[in-house]
Amino acid sequence: MKIAVIGSTNIDVVSYIDKIPAGGETRPAQNFHTAHGGKGANQAVAAAKLGANVLMVSAVGNDLFGKGALENFRQNKIDTSQISVIEGVATGEATIIVEESGQNRILLYKGANDKLSPELVLQAADDLKKCSLIVLQLEIPLETVYAAINFANENKIPVLLNPAPAVKDLSIDMACKCDFFVPNETELSILTDMPVNSRDEIKSAANSLLSKGLKNIIVTMGSQGALWLSNDREEFISARKVQSVDSTGAGDAFIGCFVENYTKTGDILDSVKLASLYATLSVTKKGTQDSYATAEEFKAFCAAL
Ligand code: RIB
Repeated sequence: MKIAVIGSTNIDVVSYIDKIPAGGETRPAQNFHTAHGGKGANQAVAAAKLGANVLMVSAVGNDLFGKGALENFRQNKIDTSQISVIEGVATGEATIIVEESGQNRILLYKGANDKLSPELVLQAADDLKKCSLIVLQLEIPLETVYAAINFANENKIPVLLNPAPAVKDLSIDMACKCDFFVPNETELSILTDMPVNSRDEIKSAANSLLSKGLKNIIVTMGSQGALWLSNDREEFISARKVQSVDSTGAGDAFIGCFVENYTKTGDILDSVKLASLYATLSVTKKGTQDSYATAEEFKAFCAAL
């Protein structure tokens, strides 16, 4: 069984700081690194590290970062045959600031990700038809996301949409065509224009989407846990308390683990529980993909609980 991730590939330029500089101020960073990132790439790598067979559909520039990203996918045993190398545009780049609390702020330059057209996705049709799930986020053009959802529906392939980063005018009709809709609280608030300051408010906002026809909504709630709502189920999974060092990419870790387990077992609740643990483990380590555990490491973590 193969999982297709249609999404972004970035290089992350990350500074760890004690205090955000004010306008016009220069402050020293306590630590710095560059790393492979992009929401699509992160989700693909998390699933692959856990043992999933993953096809990545993405676009990179013909530059050093793009070459490095391709090599990183290969090292993680991800199928790169549908990654396009685009001339004349840089690989996507994310400037990330991580504060002492582990909280992050991201400035995104889409670069080649913006060139991942519906045509490039449809070029991968034969490979996509062999996949048991298609995973999408919003760091690529919206028209490409919609084309991929329609393709998935026409070919009866389940689809998961992670509406990140949030796009206010995301089509609800398109979201209704997805089997899984996985926002975090902030994205849920932007999409629904509703407050999400408590679990009840989060539930109300998610219910407003359910009433519009969405199927399974899984809200990732950071250190609180995750909420899964469908027409006949409501489950809250609380997160384990850990010392957060770097929360960057925790939502991607959640999705990578969820899809790896769900495509194997078909069990949504169990997959949400495992995904919550996997994301929790990732925030205890610095970095994004570097913080994702392998199947063996994750098994050992779960066994020690
Ligand atoms: O979700 C985390 C990711 O968002 C980072 O890896 C960065 O590339 C941005 O796209």
